[in-house]
Amino acid sequence: MTTAKEPKNTSNGQVGKIPKRKLLKSDLQRMRIPRRFWPRMKKPLDDFEDKKILIKYYNEICDKVRKGESLILSGPNDIGKTTFACEIIKEARRYGYYGFFIRAYDYIDACFLKEMYNREMTIPERTKEVDVLILDDLGKELGGSDRAIGMLASLIKYRVEECKTTIITTNISTPKEFIVDYGVSFQRSMRGVYHWINFEGPSYRDKMARELKKEYEDDALEAGKEVQRAEK
Ligand SMILES: Nc1ncnc2c1ncn2[C@@H]1O[C@H](COP(=O)(O)OP(=O)(O)OP(=O)(O)O)[C@@H](O)[C@H]1O
Ligand SMILES: [Mg+2]
Repeated sequence: MTTAKEPKNTSNGQVGKIPKRKLLKSDLQRMRIPRRFWPRMKKPLDDFEDKKILIKYYNEICDKVRKGESLILSGPNDIGKTTFACEIIKEARRYGYYGFFIRAYDYIDACFLKEMYNREMTIPERTKEVDVLILDDLGKELGGSDRAIGMLASLIKYRVEECKTTIITTNISTPKEFIVDYGVSFQRSMRGVYHWINFEGPSYRDKMARELKKEYEDDALEAGKEVQRAEK
């Protein structure tokens, strides 16, 4: 398994700066980032309480990945959690770290089906070993078996113990609710490593739906005018 090269320690014990490289299309494909999240985030984050933590995390990504610091981005639908998580693994990739995107329920399926990532490695192996993982939509697999929860708990525990960074996105809205769904021992294995972020933002899909509707209305108006012109 390839991991990013650690930067050399300088004489004063500080870790040297890692050079930044350009992100390629092949990087996005290999990280399995869905196409919707390939372009850079269009609008900066709105102001909310935990925004400062997120910006600091993004700006200090190498340090965070080196330490295995992780995030849970919690909040309602459509507010940009997955979009921001993808910005984080893209930034980590620019510094040479390897990223991988997977939805929690796809991880469960991949474990059962022993799906391959490439010729040498299965998807579950990639998920366990990659430097920076996005585990998207945690909670959507709930209602499944206890075995599925056990698989996720063991993945999280392994990554915490190996100091590997994970960015979880979820609609579960509080740590208490998380304990109800996944149990205390799952939650305890994340303590001291994961920051719980209450992500906030406008509903971007509502905005996109309004824009799409307007586009169709404008087209219909234009088509109506053309018919009128033709009839004259
Ligand atoms: N900062 C942004 N500027 C413009 N569009 C954005 C921004 N963030 C997200 N979007 C768009 O809004 C849509 C929803 O974003 P995203 O999927 O990241 O939300 P989410 O919070 O992860 O939702 P869910 O909980 O349903 O998974 C996407 O199509 C995305 O492109
Ligand atoms: Mg999402």
